[in-house]
Amino acid sequence: MHVAKRLEQIGAYLFADLDRKQEQLKAKGVDVISLSVGDPDLPTPAHIVDALTEGARDPRSHRYPSYVGEKDFRSTVAAWFRKRFGVSLDPDTEVLALIGSKEGLAHLPWAIVDPGDVVLVPDPGYPIYRSSTILADGVPHPVPLLRERGFLPDLSAIPQEIARRAKVLFLNYPNNPTAATASMEFLTEAVEFARRHDILLAHDNAYSEITYDGYVAPSILEVDGAKDVAIELHSLSKTYCMTGWRIGFAVGSAAAVGALGRIKTNIDSGIFRAVQRAGVAAMAGPQDGVTERLRVYQARRDRVTKALRSIGWEVPDIKATIYVWLPVPGGMTSAQFTSAVLEKTGVLVTPGTGYGAHGEGYVRLSLTIGDTRLDEALGRLVDAFGRVSAPPAGSRATTR
Ligand code: MLT
Repeated sequence: MHVAKRLEQIGAYLFADLDRKQEQLKAKGVDVISLSVGDPDLPTPAHIVDALTEGARDPRSHRYPSYVGEKDFRSTVAAWFRKRFGVSLDPDTEVLALIGSKEGLAHLPWAIVDPGDVVLVPDPGYPIYRSSTILADGVPHPVPLLRERGFLPDLSAIPQEIARRAKVLFLNYPNNPTAATASMEFLTEAVEFARRHDILLAHDNAYSEITYDGYVAPSILEVDGAKDVAIELHSLSKTYCMTGWRIGFAVGSAAAVGALGRIKTNIDSGIFRAVQRAGVAAMAGPQDGVTERLRVYQARRDRVTKALRSIGWEVPDIKATIYVWLPVPGGMTSAQFTSAVLEKTGVLVTPGTGYGAHGEGYVRLSLTIGDTRLDEALGRLVDAFGRVSAPPAGSRATTR
């Protein structure tokens, strides 16, 4: 059978690959602890599950749902957005339901990008930005996120010729994988850049609610005039521990929301109504479940920080996301270190290069396993690596 060449360019999905590795080791009897994928282990709050159950019993749910999202869901998104960010949205033209934000990110370039158009992709960045660009026959142009710039892109360093050919700029703050956050000042600069070059700014805000120590993450739509040039994608996955439910939404520029909606009407048939009902219960209902879950993540963040700093590991301060982005100690590459950790400890981390070439020299840890297993994983790391400034014995300490 012939397989399309474009698949060679995107390869298997990062976490599908890591799942496979994990399963192979488990089959050999290794007690693998995964700190890899960011998949909340905590349950979805009960009132959300109840709404799904009621919705599933309602025969109206058994028919096709609306392509763009039920009116009730879109109005709830608009109300939540107004309360949370102070931004008004027209539920009919500026809100679109998504089968998870990943789905919207995957389809967006199809709606905006013609063959050969450039898409500005943060590097390191969520792998979908690059692969969806390639699937739309666009050309991903990596925009480095460097530690010395707080993992914010230097937009002024993007060559004029590239900016001229660019149709989309992906951004994502709070950031996966680096956990960096962006100020309103930076977001304003990004909106100006997008306006100047007639580029759609696609802001992935999947982690807007996963914040600590009083930090409140902004929406790009809070920037004056952003709706002219920006679309923002949100997810209920991480906020409400609903990764398996597949529900999110896109908001912002009516032109971009409409174009993405047009793609979707041709491809999918919307989200199960019962899941949308659960989404309404999540956003309009009590938020104390979110607060409780944030407390748990924050405590885990503190455990990881304390344990790894105690052996000399350079752990940054983290005020958002469920991730810890760690410099690889001892001059190893990300892949070498990931393998060394797995081999010596059975702990699976995510190599930074899974997010792009500028992820070299880093690994990512997720805070999405329970305390007992997290402590076990940290104990194994501490035992195996002791003082981490030197490379672990037996590994080849080479850099790129
Ligand atoms: C991550 O771990 O980066 C995400 O949870 C994975 C995903 O959304 O596919």
